[in-house]
Amino acid sequence: MRLFHSQTEIRQFVSNQRYRDVKIGLIPTMGALHEGHLSLVKMSVEAGDLPVASVFVNPTQFNNPEDLEKYPRNLDQDLKMLESAGCQAVFAPSVEEMYPFVPDLTINFGSLETELEGKFREGHFKGVGLVVSKLFNIVQPDHAYFGQKDLQQYYIIQKLIQQLSFPIQLRMAPIMREAHGLAMSSRNERLSESDRNEAALIYQSLQEAQKELLKSTSDISAVKQRIHELFKTSDRLTLEYFEVISTDDFKPLKKIKNKATTALCIAAEIGQVRLIDNLLLIS
Ligand code: PAF
Repeated sequence: MRLFHSQTEIRQFVSNQRYRDVKIGLIPTMGALHEGHLSLVKMSVEAGDLPVASVFVNPTQFNNPEDLEKYPRNLDQDLKMLESAGCQAVFAPSVEEMYPFVPDLTINFGSLETELEGKFREGHFKGVGLVVSKLFNIVQPDHAYFGQKDLQQYYIIQKLIQQLSFPIQLRMAPIMREAHGLAMSSRNERLSESDRNEAALIYQSLQEAQKELLKSTSDISAVKQRIHELFKTSDRLTLEYFEVISTDDFKPLKKIKNKATTALCIAAEIGQVRLIDNLLLIS
């Protein structure tokens, strides 16, 4: 596996590989890798790509400087994990390499960036859109792999690809879960064993809601009320939101119009750790 820190070098590497007629798969990450990230690399390997991962803690997507500072960084460990999953090249630039000047370009994603996570993390998706556009231009992949875990981010990237005409096929990897159902996340490291057990309620409530919503008699507001009640039974977990949304715009639905574009999204906090999860209505 090759490691590159400069844009020029990774570009050169990728363009040399193109002569071998291989497809390039890009797996963008911020490091602190877990099995969920590795499943993206494995998907790229299985697709027959040459998998290239990026490891870059992107300052423009953090609205809280303390979170940015505290974000776990362990490149050596990440590199070992990436190599074991079959990754062939890693682009790990410095902040100066990625942003040689303070970027003032912003991309507007409409309600996709202001609903749900957008309400809690102002400017977050603009930062994601900016860094992913840069990574797309630098690596020029054929395929880009993103996890369903960050569902809103996935649809932000879909919009970016469609509206900026990137010649890239976007691929979604299913959520990897711990034994009791908790969605894998770098943040789970900060949870005690008992918090992890308690946090299993997040996935359980999504499953219960999905079952209800698939019934012909389903009523979104009654399901939402039931989920709020469920969370009241936990003295550790605080529900931030539970919404049934359309993946077209991420606006909460009052009635399900198209099951194929309906998703259930949830965010909850436990011991100052914020956790998100989701289920596609038809999954
Ligand atoms: O999902 C992430 O880790 C980040 O938001 C991404 C896509 C790597 C952009 O920095």
